[in-house]
Amino acid sequence: MPKKERKTAQPKKTKDGKSAQAYDHKKEKLLLRPDVGLQPQFKQKKPPKTYRYDPSLDPALSWDVNADRERAEALIAKIEKTKDVAEAKLVAAELRQMSRPFLNWAGNAERREFTVPTLPLFVHERLSTQAILQSVKSHKRDRQQTLALFADEELDTTDRLLKAYQHETDWVNRLILGDSLVVMNSLLQYEGLGGKVQVIYMDPPYGVKFGSNFQPFIRRRDVKHGDDADLTREPEMVQAYRDTWELGLHSYLTYLRDRLLLCRELLHPSGSVFVQIGDENLHHVRELLDEIFGSQNHVAIVTFRKKGMPLGAQYLEGTADFLLWYARDRVRLKYRQLFQKKDVQGDSHWDRVELPDGVRRKMTPEEISDHSLLPAGATPYQLHQLYPAGVNPSGLFEFGFEGKRYSPPPGRSWKTNVNGMRRLAAAGRLEPYKGGETLRYVLKLSDYPVTPLNNLWADLAAAADTIYVVQTNVEVLKRCILMTTDPGDLVLDPTCGSGTTAYVAEQWGRRWITIDTSRVPLALARQRLLTATFQYYELRDPTRGPAGGFVYKQKQNQKGEEVGAIVPHITLKSIAQNEPPQEEVLVNRPEVESGIVRVSGPLVVEATIPTAIEVEPAKAVKDREATYEVDPISRMIEVLRRSPTLRLAGNQVVTLKNIRRPAKALDLHAEAEMAEPTPKPVAFIFGPEHGPVIEQVVLSAAKEAHLKNYAHLFVVGFAIQPGASK
Ligand SMILES: C[S@@+](CC[C@H](N)C(=O)[O-])C[C@H]1O[C@@H](n2cnc3c(N)ncnc32)[C@H](O)[C@@H]1O
Repeated sequence: MPKKERKTAQPKKTKDGKSAQAYDHKKEKLLLRPDVGLQPQFKQKKPPKTYRYDPSLDPALSWDVNADRERAEALIAKIEKTKDVAEAKLVAAELRQMSRPFLNWAGNAERREFTVPTLPLFVHERLSTQAILQSVKSHKRDRQQTLALFADEELDTTDRLLKAYQHETDWVNRLILGDSLVVMNSLLQYEGLGGKVQVIYMDPPYGVKFGSNFQPFIRRRDVKHGDDADLTREPEMVQAYRDTWELGLHSYLTYLRDRLLLCRELLHPSGSVFVQIGDENLHHVRELLDEIFGSQNHVAIVTFRKKGMPLGAQYLEGTADFLLWYARDRVRLKYRQLFQKKDVQGDSHWDRVELPDGVRRKMTPEEISDHSLLPAGATPYQLHQLYPAGVNPSGLFEFGFEGKRYSPPPGRSWKTNVNGMRRLAAAGRLEPYKGGETLRYVLKLSDYPVTPLNNLWADLAAAADTIYVVQTNVEVLKRCILMTTDPGDLVLDPTCGSGTTAYVAEQWGRRWITIDTSRVPLALARQRLLTATFQYYELRDPTRGPAGGFVYKQKQNQKGEEVGAIVPHITLKSIAQNEPPQEEVLVNRPEVESGIVRVSGPLVVEATIPTAIEVEPAKAVKDREATYEVDPISRMIEVLRRSPTLRLAGNQVVTLKNIRRPAKALDLHAEAEMAEPTPKPVAFIFGPEHGPVIEQVVLSAAKEAHLKNYAHLFVVGFAIQPGASK
């Protein structure tokens, strides 16, 4: 039986002229995910996934201490064996890459691979602004009815569990709670989203002021660096925070490198990644991107004005942030040129005007600096040289114009041939210059009223009314998304924050997935999306939704200015050669359907449910080889060594020396000496990675500490059960 075509109706306007509509992406599919609450019944477990930094490396070699040498030898052997010139060239390129300087930091060289748990995503909430609005309307009529938050709930929970990750469902946009590494791995391993994402926007913490990067409360935007009251209490956040910062810049770079590698896996061959960063670590992060994406795939560094103007810098004020833009493959990059209005007001080159009746004259100095003084429909123009930089052999002739003969100056030529000059004259594009000394070309502003956007975005206004402490300017996201995607494409942000990427993607009819490890920003993003309203851009093919593209038209306002999406790009060459004039499409100006309020399409809130990892007793940890990578206790000891000053309640400050593992211990994890006021031995236990410190652990540790005459026992954790606290 032929498949029924699902028709997406054109939006209907109501009598009052307003109706709430949303775009849908139902033609795109997505694998079903199970509902939350059914974790125990979910049987399709997958093993953790190991990612290697260099996929060409033989897995066995990565165990070798001197992996680089081994790798080089393997590559040389490959060259010696191969008869394929292309392969030999590739291998040689890799060898050359190895001899290049690279950025190194603690743990980098040894860490050639990392393993990520492969966890499913569970659906927590299905939401649709449109469904909520419709429910509220019908609820007003029938008060018995329960309110629906989601439009098309087709499957029940058990069905979803049985069909999870097996069956497809219609696309919905996704807000996902979890660590970006784990979530991206889940998208790759459970859903096969590798190669499907068109653009990734990543706005990680900038790697400075390690304490002030996470906003702990929805209504607190004035987060200060190092203030205890600003510390988050969410376990996931504590973990993300620790993984990112515990060794300062060293762990920050590792954190980013791992995530960038997964970003690359997710990107479509024509896809892009943007990393937003401050000037402090711009150079390091660029090195990381070079390493992961290849320096040949660097596209641009954009400098953009950041919100607000900091005052009181000792030297030059910092007013800019940066975007590092890399392509998955620069040769195949999807790129839509953006344009800005050409602003020539005040530019004395544009010193003439053509009035609507065709009369041409010089502008007054006042008119040059203020174009609003020009009559409606007037076009500024300038007289442009008609000689090219080199010599055009077919442009060496005398040309008659309005009863006078003109020749190019000695050693120069006309830009075009005789026929070209005749066409320029017929089109009214020639004008005598300097009292008839020579001829010039009439270059009108209306010929090409826009100019391509470049990598300096100094025009961004300071964003007002931000809801999140580190919220990105909407205009930045708009430019990135419009430059690198088409309507219907998939956009990912692994650092959701207040959801600016999702908001802009929604506004421009792109599909989106966004991830954050903290509930606070996700709650802000959820609210922002559910309450957002947008213009309804006319769809070229409503049956396909936004993926069919928007409608673009050429339009002028009463002043004769181009206000539509299609603008002319007339050149001397096109007139001289009698070619149809070129046009540019301004993708940021699709046709708007008036009278329709657009709301966000359906979205789901999902989360990873981490598998709990119990903290091992001290003895068990000691029994096995403790490496920094696998052993959380060693990591905590290392953290203490690096910052041995503890700030306790009541303004007490304790400085520690000789922090180490106890020689023999049952439950204690570390010991140290408290320097002041008199030296005393103290002991430590560290709480588990994924849960609170429990009573039993504290009790046994306290007994052991007491028996061994430690003066104090410090219990370190991000949450503590009431019994344990007592
Ligand atoms: C600088 S903010 C992003 C702000 C965002 N561009 C906006 O406009 O609101 C960085 C976000 O990344 C999140 N984050 C940090 N580490 C993370 C991780 N490992 N996984 C997921 N999210 C993380 C933080 O919770 C924070 O909300």
